[in-house]
Amino acid sequence: MNILAIETSCDETAAAVVSDGRTARSSIVASQAALHAKYGGVVPEVASRRHLETIGPVVQEALAAAGCTLDEIDAVAATQGPGLAGSLLVGFGYGKALAYARRLPFLGVNHLEGHIYANWLIEGPEPAFPALCLVVSGGHTDLVLMRGHGQYERLGGTLDDAAGEAFDKVARLLGLPYPGGPHIARAAAEGGPSDLSLPRAWLPGTFDFSFSGLKTAVLHAVRAGRWSIPTIAWEFQEAVVDVLAGKTARLARELRAAEILLAGGVAANARLREEIASRSPVPVRVPPPHFCTDNAAMIGAAAYFRLALGERTPWEADIFTANDWSRVGRRY
Ligand code: KG4
Ligand code: ZN
Repeated sequence: MNILAIETSCDETAAAVVSDGRTARSSIVASQAALHAKYGGVVPEVASRRHLETIGPVVQEALAAAGCTLDEIDAVAATQGPGLAGSLLVGFGYGKALAYARRLPFLGVNHLEGHIYANWLIEGPEPAFPALCLVVSGGHTDLVLMRGHGQYERLGGTLDDAAGEAFDKVARLLGLPYPGGPHIARAAAEGGPSDLSLPRAWLPGTFDFSFSGLKTAVLHAVRAGRWSIPTIAWEFQEAVVDVLAGKTARLARELRAAEILLAGGVAANARLREEIASRSPVPVRVPPPHFCTDNAAMIGAAAYFRLALGERTPWEADIFTANDWSRVGRRY
């Protein structure tokens, strides 16, 4: 089954052709990062206007790169939410209209479920259930137990900033460009241990996270003027990675999970990948970095398993913007 998948939840216009939920025949991502860089973050209205200009060419490019035409497409999938309303509307509307015109099945996909399914795009044996998923992106930080396809139980998450948001805000404090994650990682590679001690919010007895205190501590460190950018970046990254890896590994042990699946843009972070792998009692699966950050192939992978069960999104369905795991898989 060839699925044409579309993703426009934030500032990347993406399209992909995915076969049987496991093989990305193409994955095109048109990044708007340069467009938003001067604002230090994504400007929603600017993002949705750019999606409108780019969506057509990006879909054409995804078909061309896969070496196929619309005649070989069996279904269309598009991110339904959560995300920026104006951005979601472009890709979801485009996908729905294309499917309707071609009389193809259509499926709206939860963006976070998509991130998790990037783990099905890796060659080799499929992930085993129950899998503990750590979803760490610019908008979300969630620990979710996946007992089977489409079955999720959220066991913890951030009480304030998302992990990626913390990277982005700290990058801004350090004068590094948006999106901050890769820039912090690069600066941290030049740094090392120091006498700067940054707080870790362990929130005992829960599997929740909090990064706002850490962010404030970085602000004070910057103002103190005693530490270099690489030193602060290194200490910050270690603090985030310590808590994410520590809690995820402990929960995997308690739940006797078969595997840990990493997902979302922050899963592209090399230190996080390394630290979770070293602390986890079970195998850890991580998609390659280009499938960790926003892309449409992951949306096609998630859609496959639902479409194969006969699920369809009704034509009258609309986008949604809230992060709500209890609603994943239910019709909006
Ligand atoms: O999943 P994603 O592409 O978009 C959302 O759904 O939010 O995640 C983007 C987030 C940004 O906050 C970005 O700074 C972060 O992922 N990120 C990273 C790295 N690459 C991207 N954070 C830490 N280290 C990285 N290498
Ligand atoms: Zn994302």
